[in-house]
Amino acid sequence: MLFGDSFRKLPKVDLHVHLEGTITPEMAKKIASRNNVIPSPQLMDSSGEHFRWSSDGDARHNLIAFLKAYDDATSVMKRREDYSDITYDYLHRAAQEGCVYVEFFISADHGAMVGLDYKEMIGAIADGYEKAKKESGIEMRLISTCVRHYGPEAALKVADVTRGYHHPLVTGFGMAGDENAHTIADFRPAFMASGLAGRTAHAGEASGPETVRQARDILQVRRFGHMVRAIEDVKLMEEQKSILAVPEVCVSSNIALKVYPDYKSHPLRRFFDYGLKVVLGSDDPSFFNTSIGREYKIAHDHFGFTETELLQLSRNAVEEAFVGEAVRGQLLDKIAAHKH
Ligand code: ADE
Ligand code: ZN
Repeated sequence: MLFGDSFRKLPKVDLHVHLEGTITPEMAKKIASRNNVIPSPQLMDSSGEHFRWSSDGDARHNLIAFLKAYDDATSVMKRREDYSDITYDYLHRAAQEGCVYVEFFISADHGAMVGLDYKEMIGAIADGYEKAKKESGIEMRLISTCVRHYGPEAALKVADVTRGYHHPLVTGFGMAGDENAHTIADFRPAFMASGLAGRTAHAGEASGPETVRQARDILQVRRFGHMVRAIEDVKLMEEQKSILAVPEVCVSSNIALKVYPDYKSHPLRRFFDYGLKVVLGSDDPSFFNTSIGREYKIAHDHFGFTETELLQLSRNAVEEAFVGEAVRGQLLDKIAAHKH
């Protein structure tokens, strides 16, 4: 059994986390108050300690309701320092749990909701990162992300601003949002326009195996946000294994959004045993009452991952991270140096 300090020290990687999904209810209240904003009354439960969204209905409706709450939480932010503060806050907390590398999904559309243009938003996030990195050494890169239910035109604009302002911390392009809005093919122009080598798309979360196939073939991604529903299609599993597909698995998110009812039915262990290059993510930790440390702990406690297997998940993540070779090497060294 792994616990306490030895578990904390195990090097962890969060390869799937949405920046605005890390705003804690406490932080949302603090930011709202300094900005003279009243958060949406539906956003928190009566204790004010938890975000909430209507959770009856199927996975698709849950996701849609959650995405509305996500936008409501974002809208308490109004200034550059709000983005710096939430970035620092998450990286600081993640580093305390032994996390060595985080890749955030960031969204120019959400920055615009706050009143920041893309360049200002990146500058603010970079400031939060520099502060956290000085303290703990944690590394971070950013995936500029379009939001599927905002539509293909908005996605193309995100790709254009990404291409128009090159920043060394922005190393990937991604797609999140409602997997059932529009078609995957509608977003091909955006993926082709971003000019970034790193690519990932949410697929196989609130929609079935076919979106995974389409994301792979039309958007040319090899990393997939979730991909869990690929388990329903034996042939797809074989294909995904043969291309060394990387499922970014977020167990607490899948349970909170009712993609699976419980740990027993979740395919994390089956993916790993089948030989897929699994990595872990916290997705929207403040909404799903989790953290990257907790996701590793769940893998250990409920899916039987040994310390060696958890280290393999971290190694997978570093190997597949959208990061330059020098930092990748340093991160692999940190994992190799971990004493059992
Ligand atoms: N945006 C933030 N979290 C998301 C999720 N779990 N799925 C799709 N889009 C998202
Ligand atoms: Zn996600």
